[in-house]
Amino acid sequence: MAEGWARHLKGDVIEPYSAGIETHGLNPYAVKVMAEAGVDISGHRSKNVAELSDIPFDYVVTVCGHAHETCPTFPGKAKIVHVGFDDPPKLAKEARTEEEKLAHYRRVRDEIRAFVERLPMLLGADANAGSQSEDAMTSNSVTAAVRSTYAAVAGSGLSTRQEGVRRVAEAFGYTADELASIPAEANMGLSCGNPTAFASLTPGETVVDLGCGGGLDVLLAAQKVGPSGKAIGIDMTPEMIELARRNAARSGGGRMPANVEFHLAQIDKLPLPDSSVDCVISNCVINLAPDKRAVFREIARVLKPGGRLAVSDIALKKPLPGEIAEDVMAYVGCIAGAILIADYEAGLRESGFAHVQVVDSGADLNAYAKVENSSGCCSPTMSLPVANQPAQTSCCGSGGADIQSGELHKGMARLLRRYDINDYAASVKVYAVKPGQ
Ligand SMILES: C[S@@+](CC[C@H](N)C(=O)[O-])C[C@H]1O[C@@H](n2cnc3c(N)ncnc32)[C@H](O)[C@@H]1O
Repeated sequence: MAEGWARHLKGDVIEPYSAGIETHGLNPYAVKVMAEAGVDISGHRSKNVAELSDIPFDYVVTVCGHAHETCPTFPGKAKIVHVGFDDPPKLAKEARTEEEKLAHYRRVRDEIRAFVERLPMLLGADANAGSQSEDAMTSNSVTAAVRSTYAAVAGSGLSTRQEGVRRVAEAFGYTADELASIPAEANMGLSCGNPTAFASLTPGETVVDLGCGGGLDVLLAAQKVGPSGKAIGIDMTPEMIELARRNAARSGGGRMPANVEFHLAQIDKLPLPDSSVDCVISNCVINLAPDKRAVFREIARVLKPGGRLAVSDIALKKPLPGEIAEDVMAYVGCIAGAILIADYEAGLRESGFAHVQVVDSGADLNAYAKVENSSGCCSPTMSLPVANQPAQTSCCGSGGADIQSGELHKGMARLLRRYDINDYAASVKVYAVKPGQ
């Protein structure tokens, strides 16, 4: 099915081949459901990977179950990208009726279609990266995937008005009064803590929010630092910055409050002068940055001596299982990019910070999932057709009102059904001080 979709939808930019570890012959259910979707794969032939072993692939995409663990090595510089779709033949074995069998095939067919539609974008930065190092290419494609997903989230219409979104924010520490004090659209349920609650902001201070999204924490911080202070939001996604500016204008009765500003930038290259900031906050973003050390160095640069860091983030209690750690969707969903708590502390210390603490907040990363009958942190209920989805979200994933943001998280939801993410990751509060006062 993946080859069928790739030829049908992206044949102009992808030259796809498909093969399995074993050859089973062409699957009639796959042929039938693809035909229903207007794609004829009846002429395809089931191939064994050994038949393709001489082709110098750019990418090898492993699409089912544990395929990446058993995938053979290919010549050249093929990079393995794993997306853990369910295996329809395996699911069909448990099905009682033909219709149930077909339903499994149809669901996976549609998930593969959505994935293939976004594949050139996911790999695009790699393809354009020319002579860059492999690390730089990987980091570019990860950043492109993060930006495009959060662009979709920004356009999804998620807001505190949706019960699921409000409950996620409350589960991660926002009070009903705080949420009521800012435009509903500033909160999209993307947080994993409430940094302004422990940043001890005082009037007159300058505070910067790294990865401000729709402006949730910037607008709360602006209330605390008052008219003599400044709350600055940084985000690399243009759609988020536009949304944040609209929300700020709403909060200011039609005009941006004078003590609020937003900048389109990456958090490892802040458009701010040295030693100009009293406090840096951030909420569920540093885990998404490919080069955390560069972010820590930038924070140290912009903070005034004696300035502080008060960040909510996801960090790891122990290494993730390989299939989550290597999953681009798990990265975008704020899990696979997270680092060990000890590495977080060491990174901050090595960047010059003192009084470093990374504390498990104890928040249940499945809290939302339990409430909303979903599968885990950052894994919104994406299994429903978009039109039927209730307004739902999770600590760091999109709420499903948008097909693009929703589809990207489907694979993630499946992974998290197999693991309890609380065993591996935690919502943490990060404190640190730049010495020198
Ligand atoms: C999980 S959302 C959190 C948004 C916001 N902090 C909140 O709690 O509502 C992550 C946000 O960080 C932004 N982001 C991710 N990586 C970034 C980077 N390297 N530089 C700047 N912004 C980034 C995304 O565009 C997105 O708006």
